[in-house]
Amino acid sequence: MHPLRVGLTGLGNVGAGVARLLLEQSERIARRAGRPIVLTRVAVRDPSRSRDVAVDPAIITTDPLAVATAGDVDVVVELMGGLCPARRVVHAALEAGKEVVTANKALLCEHGPELFAAARDRGRCIAFEASVAGGIPIIAVLAQSMTANQITAIEAIINGTSNFILTQMFRTRASYDDTVREAQRLGYAEADPAMDVNGTDAAQKLTILTQLAYGTRVLPGQFPVRGIDTIELTDLIYAHEMGYAVKLLATARLAKGQLEMHVQPTLIRHGRPLAQVDGAHNMIALTGDAVGQTWYSGPGAGQMPTASAVVADIIDVAAGRAAVTFRRLDVWSERTPCPLQPVADMYRRYFLRFNVDDRPHVMADITDILGRNGISLASVIQHEAPEPEAENGKGTPIVPLVIMTHRTTEGQLRTAVSELNALDSVRTPSVCMPVAD
Ligand SMILES: NC(=O)c1ccc[n+]([C@@H]2O[C@H](COP(=O)([O-])OP(=O)(O)OC[C@H]3O[C@@H](n4cnc5c(N)ncnc54)[C@H](OP(=O)(O)O)[C@@H]3O)[C@@H](O)[C@H]2O)c1
Repeated sequence: MHPLRVGLTGLGNVGAGVARLLLEQSERIARRAGRPIVLTRVAVRDPSRSRDVAVDPAIITTDPLAVATAGDVDVVVELMGGLCPARRVVHAALEAGKEVVTANKALLCEHGPELFAAARDRGRCIAFEASVAGGIPIIAVLAQSMTANQITAIEAIINGTSNFILTQMFRTRASYDDTVREAQRLGYAEADPAMDVNGTDAAQKLTILTQLAYGTRVLPGQFPVRGIDTIELTDLIYAHEMGYAVKLLATARLAKGQLEMHVQPTLIRHGRPLAQVDGAHNMIALTGDAVGQTWYSGPGAGQMPTASAVVADIIDVAAGRAAVTFRRLDVWSERTPCPLQPVADMYRRYFLRFNVDDRPHVMADITDILGRNGISLASVIQHEAPEPEAENGKGTPIVPLVIMTHRTTEGQLRTAVSELNALDSVRTPSVCMPVAD
């Protein structure tokens, strides 16, 4: 059979891994694909940069649009990242009759419907396994393996950087800032880790998973997104004492015909598989109405795990599977959207920490406010403070008070917390994290 000719735009971290697999495992890949797969064109920004893969310099250009439209390219593999020029490259490739493979979650999150419509119009496909959770084949699971089910819940640890930082902070009892620096030194965090630690990356991935599972497109600005960038070590330790690990959890759940969605640092009970995901690993727990709960875990990023997913997509294109899956997918289409659950109606347990004056009646004031807002307490921790940790200037020590509530609505909780923060005896900011039961 005639070979599938690959045009690669981007030869960075993931692109170099893809090129290495295509060049070094060509026999195995050809066997699996049923035909040879050859790398014919590559676009980079800086051709003088040294690469850890031996690509023929004659096929390298600085013009990704030339790769997207080249006559000797059948599939364009977009691995540049970002929105521009990636969006133009994908459109140009589809217009020129090429299939597309991409790992670009930001592009799909922002422009997915438009790109998928363009692909459908031209009878082409877009494969995007590597866009969520790197080496874990979660897109194939949702698009192919779980199609007999209505997905009722997605709970996902899908930002390896955040999970590494939370794990390492707790293990080493180090501050957030020190741990971020260590993560950068070890290559687990970018020089600018903002998108990872502020929840944006996880929210973009949740948007893609939700679109696949529920046919509903909900953008990160439309649901609560909080990252780990304000986490304090003390809360990880208190959560542990209460029997929980803190994880950056991305959740999409069907609740009474509405979609509950959020990305937040969340307490997960020790013993649940999600609580045991440490370091840079990812895990996605999917619940289907027929199968029940299933778990998928592994490396959610990194050169070769991500390249593994990209090359699997290229093999699927070569074998014709990607086109069939894409055609049959009811994704990115205008189905009746599932309404979003209002934030105030979210019904969960909460972990609260206040720094309070250690003096009479403070506890009574706090429980009174919680009680008046219909919130009951599941447990309370206030450690004996033999010596004051800090002084409020009036000689009264300040102590942490940690409360686990029973289930309540976010609306009730927010009202109560703002009343509590207004108390003289409560030093703000108070900490509030949901619990995933
Ligand atoms: N890294 C991961 O673990 C991971 C995991 C899952 C998904 N992804 C996704 O995979 C994609 C690639 O990520 P990466 O980590 O490989 O990025 P990267 O290391 O920054 O590589 C980007 C590549 O694109 C090239 N490039 C950028 N702009 C270009 C332009 N205008 N013209 C030509 N070439 C251009 C760069 O050229 P130079 O080399 O000359 O600078 C570089 O080779 C992103 O969408 C990312 O979100 C990454």
